[in-house]
Amino acid sequence: MALEILATGHYVPARRVTNDDLAKTMDTTDEWIRSHTGIGSRHMAAEDEATSDLAYEAAIAALEQLAPGKALEAAQTIDIVVVGTSSPDYYGFPSVACIVQDRLGIKNAGAFDVIAACSGFVYSLEAAAGMLNQGRKRALVIGADVLTKITDWTDRGTCVLFGDAAGAAILEKTDAPSTGAGRRGIIRTILGSDGSGAKELMCERGGTRNPFKKGETIEKPITLYMNGRAVYNFAVKAFTDTIENLLEAEGITMADVKKIIPHQANMRIIQAAAKRLGFSEDKFFMNIEKYANTSNATIPVALDEYARSGDLERGDLIMTVGFGGGLTYAGNLIVW
Ligand code: ACO
Repeated sequence: MALEILATGHYVPARRVTNDDLAKTMDTTDEWIRSHTGIGSRHMAAEDEATSDLAYEAAIAALEQLAPGKALEAAQTIDIVVVGTSSPDYYGFPSVACIVQDRLGIKNAGAFDVIAACSGFVYSLEAAAGMLNQGRKRALVIGADVLTKITDWTDRGTCVLFGDAAGAAILEKTDAPSTGAGRRGIIRTILGSDGSGAKELMCERGGTRNPFKKGETIEKPITLYMNGRAVYNFAVKAFTDTIENLLEAEGITMADVKKIIPHQANMRIIQAAAKRLGFSEDKFFMNIEKYANTSNATIPVALDEYARSGDLERGDLIMTVGFGGGLTYAGNLIVW
């Protein structure tokens, strides 16, 4: 029995904001952002668009690929909905997954969110895979974020880095082999964490540790804080270690892997990792120039774009690798 991705989809909001657009309202330049991050533009959700709206559109795109013209009918075959997100419509509950389940009209499916920041899609895939191994057949797995609504727009060191998007995958337990020749699907996953770095990347206010108090005046909305240098150092190590550990555990080399679908927070993290590991940057499927860092959405959006590019063929071995707040890291090997 194999855990195969049968279809993928993604969605980005219509509004595209370039670095030059940002330079009109803050002290930054296209040259600084490009040279320090590789980002050229990002898409931003509209005033009335929340994370579940993006997640729903990505799910429809994946279901449409699975069953052209019959997306909502195909939704009825879903047994479990898992959404990785750091920016849910509502803090605590309801989950984004429940909102998507309701909009798709899915009956008889469990639905929940996963909080693992930018590693969230890989964590969500693994959570869904575990449940499929316990008897369920088909899962809808989504990574979605609208970080631009929890970004401090007075902090030029972080606000230029993020964009909004959602990506989705339909994961199914199939009769294909998961070992030996002709194996398919997710064949190995690494999940890791280092909570000692929690404070380097966090949304400090609004939760039960620092709830708002009666009479308190809120100067600005809840926003994320990031110690860019600390996260950068963690990211390069977590990234390279995860790639090396996946290769070693599977007894393969990078030559066996067609493409790595990475979390993309900064082009320089990818370049540093490629240099350390001694392989070409061409091994990575990159789209950070268009979308910036879309957190939970980066990996599934890139996976969908790569899958639809025509370069990914059945039987190809690919790798995902991500890192993010928590701090967390994750990666997996998938035979397409
Ligand atoms: N435009 C112009 N100048 C800027 C900007 C900007 N947008 N932002 C910062 N600067 C300036 C700083 O003020 C500083 O100026 P100074 O030297 O006069 O003080 C200078 O540029 C250098 O700033 P640094 O912060 O040292 O820049 P650095 O080269 O470290 O790059 C960055 C910063 C891009 C944030 C980098 O540290 C990084 O990518 N870190 C990792 C981020 C990451 O992986 N985040 C993951 C988030 S995922 C999640 O879970 C949400």
